[in-house]
Amino acid sequence: MAGVGLAASTQAVGATASSGSNRSGYAAVSAYQIGAQAGLDSLTRVKRNFTAPGPFEVLVRSRAAALNYRDLMILAGRYGSRKPVDRVPVGDGAGDVVAVGEQVTAVAVGDRVSAAHFTSWLAGDYQPSAFTADLGNTADGWLSEIVRLPANACVQLPESMSYQSAAALGAAGITAWRVLHVFGQIKAGDTVLTLGTGGVATLALQIAKMAGAKVVITSSSDQKLTIARSLGADVTVNYRRDPAWEKVVTNDAGGVDIVVETVGLQTLDQSLACCAPNARIGLIGALGGTPSQLPGLAGLVTKNVQLQGVTSGSRAMFSDLLRAYVVNAAEPHVDRVFGFDEARSALDYLAKGEHVGKLVISM
Ligand SMILES: NC(=O)c1ccc[n+]([C@@H]2O[C@H](COP(=O)([O-])OP(=O)(O)OC[C@H]3O[C@@H](n4cnc5c(N)ncnc54)[C@H](OP(=O)(O)O)[C@@H]3O)[C@@H](O)[C@H]2O)c1
Repeated sequence: MAGVGLAASTQAVGATASSGSNRSGYAAVSAYQIGAQAGLDSLTRVKRNFTAPGPFEVLVRSRAAALNYRDLMILAGRYGSRKPVDRVPVGDGAGDVVAVGEQVTAVAVGDRVSAAHFTSWLAGDYQPSAFTADLGNTADGWLSEIVRLPANACVQLPESMSYQSAAALGAAGITAWRVLHVFGQIKAGDTVLTLGTGGVATLALQIAKMAGAKVVITSSSDQKLTIARSLGADVTVNYRRDPAWEKVVTNDAGGVDIVVETVGLQTLDQSLACCAPNARIGLIGALGGTPSQLPGLAGLVTKNVQLQGVTSGSRAMFSDLLRAYVVNAAEPHVDRVFGFDEARSALDYLAKGEHVGKLVISM
């Protein structure tokens, strides 16, 4: 990050790299904060000081951050309760450890790391307490030159994985992984339906192909569906041209075994209509808003379909996901990379919905 105004307040970064313990703080670090949460205009660029890491913390020099739909919701004040105006946005990122607390042993200065945005959810089942330590939401996120993390939240990046790929695989990848592998128990030969061509849906497409599944994907745009086919989609459906897209899906693909339901209650009826007996639907999104009428769920019973709400996942799931991309020599599909100075443009671009896959901010 040389040349972007980072100043070590006490010790030069790396001066104690061999001892693995750099306890300096940082002054005048460039960062963004969410401000009044009245929309994208609330995003503000500021300078912040970082004190030395606490005993179990690390400071990480950000190298890349990746955007998610919820970053827009947080800036618009539509994601849970109001947050402090100085909250740093963006839950996904990756970088280099530049300082570690005195009790930290698993991570050292110089390590390349990322973290799942729920930093206290290390493994096992979901607990609502995960939301109390949620980067970019209830804790400061990655849109800052320096990020403070609990050391045990850190995931070491595989050597072959870039910062940008690791960032892009964060929340959206973990969520897709959890729906497909942890809840969906995907196996080769399954058929997976994923809706839209945003971050979650596109990573779900890639993860499902790695598992040997047949993938059906929908989009409002033929152009985007062409990209989806180049990423391995077997069946593509334009939901704008075919509002009764569930009929096209069942006709072209038969019943599906797993649905990555990114749109939410608005499309649940149609997703259910696509399901084969014993299918699994991971309900993760709210892109379609809340419909005036609840979906009719009779098909759940007659087809013995399982429906589960999914809110991202744990550090263990993130590690498994990173390993899968390395083993398959795959990279998450990144639509566009923006500079740190272009964070606002990146969020505008996300809001327009013209992207396929992920948007990354490179530091
Ligand atoms: N990203 C995460 O980590 C994460 C985790 C958990 C839950 N979620 C939730 O999952 C949803 C997707 O998140 P994301 O980050 O992947 O969003 P995103 O990258 O902004 O993707 C949005 C895409 O979804 C499609 N879409 C939007 N409205 C639609 C509708 N009414 N019907 C069908 N498709 C529609 C569009 O694709 P086309 O232009 O191709 O039609 C749009 O580009 C959000 O509700 C989010 O809150 C996300």
